[in-house]
Amino acid sequence: MKLTNTRVLITGANGFIGGRLAERLTHEENTTVRGLVRNGTSFDFARDKLLTHHDFEIATGDVCDEAVVHNAVAGCAIVVHCAAMQGGRAKIDDYRRVNVGGTLNLLRAARAANVQRFVHISTINVHGFPPPRDANADSPLDFGDGFYSVTKAEGERAVSDLASNYHFPITIVRPGCTYGPRSVAWTLTPLARVKRGAPVLIGDGSGICNAVYIDNLIDLILLALKNDAAIGQSFIGTEGRGVTWREFYGAYARMAGVSKINSMPRWFALLAATGFGALARWEGYPPRVDRASVEFYSHRVVYDIEKSKRLLGYAPKISFEEGMRRTEEWLRNEQMLK
Ligand SMILES: NC(=O)c1ccc[n+]([C@@H]2O[C@H](COP(=O)([O-])OP(=O)(O)OC[C@H]3O[C@@H](n4cnc5c(N)ncnc54)[C@H](OP(=O)(O)O)[C@@H]3O)[C@@H](O)[C@H]2O)c1
Repeated sequence: MKLTNTRVLITGANGFIGGRLAERLTHEENTTVRGLVRNGTSFDFARDKLLTHHDFEIATGDVCDEAVVHNAVAGCAIVVHCAAMQGGRAKIDDYRRVNVGGTLNLLRAARAANVQRFVHISTINVHGFPPPRDANADSPLDFGDGFYSVTKAEGERAVSDLASNYHFPITIVRPGCTYGPRSVAWTLTPLARVKRGAPVLIGDGSGICNAVYIDNLIDLILLALKNDAAIGQSFIGTEGRGVTWREFYGAYARMAGVSKINSMPRWFALLAATGFGALARWEGYPPRVDRASVEFYSHRVVYDIEKSKRLLGYAPKISFEEGMRRTEEWLRNEQMLK
């Protein structure tokens, strides 16, 4: 689909992925971007830095609010759904309300408004922990572990069911660990953890991190928007060349001038996960450490991106070294490294 002179609604436009997508759609594709953002949240922090430097339209409110999304999608040809509840001390029903309910709410509004393309941003976590050895875009969804991962899998299934019932043109993109300028999860947090000497590795750190530099992921999302072969398909949003967790955290340790990266034996992590898991089941909140995260940091699976290459011509252009170099440059400019 042609993007020039179309209007695109991005939910979570003040977030990391949504914000970068909004910038690139505006500057490279000459698209009108409308961002759906909530008042009184990190939008207030990002308002000056991000949104007012660009010519974005803003719709305010919660993705779970029917009237809000109805107004937000009006006049948009495309929707990219980035908003999600990803962490925090909340019950599973709160996660479900946003990651399933909010997604369906948006999808129904988009269908009623005759939106022509809907891209749903999911996660590779939907393939479970550990993922299958040949994990790829057509691997089954796993509904096993972790409030975030389970509700993202449920949200994805709801999107696919509704789309096939109504022949609605959806595409699902499942990012891996997306890092780069402005990333909280995979740049600011790892840097802070390495600096304070937290045990960030399991065992010898040879588990595989399916990292993706933000602009490689945005390239894939743009290809999915432009290419009709993406309709009705799911894609893995990684680089097809995992790095070890030791290499991933090692990059931040080097930037911060930290010589030792701390680790935890796998048996100890599993024991902690059992204890925290029991407490969490009793309390109804996510555990501080769970079995899924131990597997996440231990498995050695590199997700297969062959389908993204074959159907969309995706080829990640920025290497891990270059991605980390750009990330470091941003951190230095923002005075977050000495
Ligand atoms: N970053 C990664 O490594 C990664 C990996 C795999 C998948 N993903 C997926 O990619 C998407 C974007 O992630 P991100 O890293 O860009 O996250 P992010 O920076 O935390 O952005 C998430 C956005 O969602 C918004 N949001 C949350 N709940 C909302 C609600 N009820 N109504 C409206 N907006 C709401 C947040 O707004 P507030 O500021 O108001 O909270 C924020 O703008 C998510 O779907 C996530 O599951 C990310």
